[in-house]
Amino acid sequence: MAARRIAVMGAGYVGLTTAACFARLGHQVTCADVDPQRVAALSKAEVDQHEPRLAELVEEGLREGRLRFVVGVPANLSDVDFLFLAVPTPTGESGAADLSAVVDVLTRTRERLPAGCVVVIKSTVPVGTTMRVTKLLERPDVTVVANPEFLREGHAVEDFLHPQRIVVGSEDEASALRVLALYAGTDAPAVITDSASAELVKYASNCFLAMKLSYVNTLAELCEQAGADIDDVTEGMRLDERIGAAFLDPGPGWGGSCLPKDTKALLSTSDKLDVDFPLLRAAIDTNTHQVRRVAGKVREAVGGSLSGVRIGVLGLTFKAGTDDLRDSPALAVAQLLAAEGAELTGYDPCVPEGASPGPVRVVDTPQRAARDASAIVVLTEWPEFAALDWTQMAGQVRHPVVVDCRDLLPAEKVKAAGFRLIATGKPD
Ligand code: UGA
Repeated sequence: MAARRIAVMGAGYVGLTTAACFARLGHQVTCADVDPQRVAALSKAEVDQHEPRLAELVEEGLREGRLRFVVGVPANLSDVDFLFLAVPTPTGESGAADLSAVVDVLTRTRERLPAGCVVVIKSTVPVGTTMRVTKLLERPDVTVVANPEFLREGHAVEDFLHPQRIVVGSEDEASALRVLALYAGTDAPAVITDSASAELVKYASNCFLAMKLSYVNTLAELCEQAGADIDDVTEGMRLDERIGAAFLDPGPGWGGSCLPKDTKALLSTSDKLDVDFPLLRAAIDTNTHQVRRVAGKVREAVGGSLSGVRIGVLGLTFKAGTDDLRDSPALAVAQLLAAEGAELTGYDPCVPEGASPGPVRVVDTPQRAARDASAIVVLTEWPEFAALDWTQMAGQVRHPVVVDCRDLLPAEKVKAAGFRLIATGKPD
C-alpha cells in the first residue's frame, strides 16, 4: 500500500482516531486542532479521551514519525494528498447541523491546497454539503469526497481498524477510489456512491438505531403493563436475523453526542425537503417521554414525592465505556428529579469526585452514593454495578429500593439483600 500524506482537521475523538489509525496504517499524518493546550498535550502523547488503544497508537505514531500535531492549520499544505475534515457539526438553532467549523476550515485552507488534493468530509454533514463545499472551494483542481465515520465512543479504534463498512461518495469516482485505497488493510466491504447518498447513509444509520431503541423502550413500558418480560421478548426478536441481535436493550433513553444531534438534523433536512417523517419525530418524542417515565418511576418508588428526598445515582455518562456526559440521559433524569426537589448523590467510574455534572454531587464510591438514600437509581450500564456487594449496599441506604433502568443488576442477589427491585420491562 502506498503511504499518503494526510492532514486531519480536528482532534476530537473522530479526528484523533482517524489521524492515529491512518498513521498506524502507514500514512504520514498531520492532525490540526484550534486548541493549543490540546495540541501540546497530544504532542507528548497525552490523550484525555477514554478510548481503548488510542493513546498507544498516538504514542506509536509520534515515535515512528508518522504523526504530528499542529495548532490551527498546518503551515505547509503544499504536499498534502488528502485534507480530512473532522470538525464538530453541532445542532444549530433550527435543529439543523451548524456547519460553521467546516466553512471556517475551508476558508482558511482553500487557496493553499495543492492541485490534485482531495478534501474528505468525515464530519457528519447534511445531505448536499459535499456539493456545497465543492462550490465554496472554487477549485476545479481539487475534488471533494464524503466519507462518513461509524465510530462508537469507547470502541473508536476497533471500529476504525475493523470497520463493518467503508462508505465513500463523490461526483468524482476516481477520487472516491483514492480515498478507499487509504483504508487498505482494514478489509471491509465498501459502498462507493454519489456524495448525497454517502452523507445520507450516516444519518440513516444513526436514526435507524435511535428508532430501534425508542421502539424497544416503548415495548419495555408495554411489558410492564402487560406483565410480560422484555428480556424474553427481545430474546425472541434477536433470533430473527432480519431484526438483528444488537441495540435491543432498554434504557433510560438514548443519548451521547451523535444520536440526539443526528435525529434532529435529519428531521430538519426532511422538513426542508418537504418530506414528512413522523416515524423519526416519534422516536425523538418517545425519547423525551422515556426520561420522564424514568423520573416518574423513581418518584413512585419513594412514595409519590421527591421533595427533600435523597436519591443515590449510579452511572452518569451516556453509556458505559466512555467518560462522555454530553446529552446523557442519566443527567436528563437527574435534572427532572432535582426539579422536583430531590437531593442527588452520584457515582460513576469515569466521573471524578467533586465534579458537579448538572445537579448531581459526585462521590468516589457507589456505597457513598447510596448513603441515606431513599432509592438508588441505576442509569448507566457499568458492569461493576452488577458486581457490587448488594448486602453491603443495603446497609447504607435509608430505604432499600433500587430502580434499575438498564436491567443490569442480578435480580435474585439484589432481592435477597432485602431490596425492592424495580426493573425495566418486567413485572414488579
Ligand atoms: C453512535 C453510533 O452507534 C455509531 O455507529 C456512530 O458512528 C456514532 O454514534 C457517531 O455518529 O459518531 P455512540 O454515540 O458512541 O455511537 O453511542 P451508541 O453506542 O450508539 O449508544 C447510543 C445510545 O444508545 C447510548 O445512550 C446507549 O446507552 C443507548 N443504547 C444503546 C441503549 O439504550 N440500548 C442499546 O441496546 C444500545
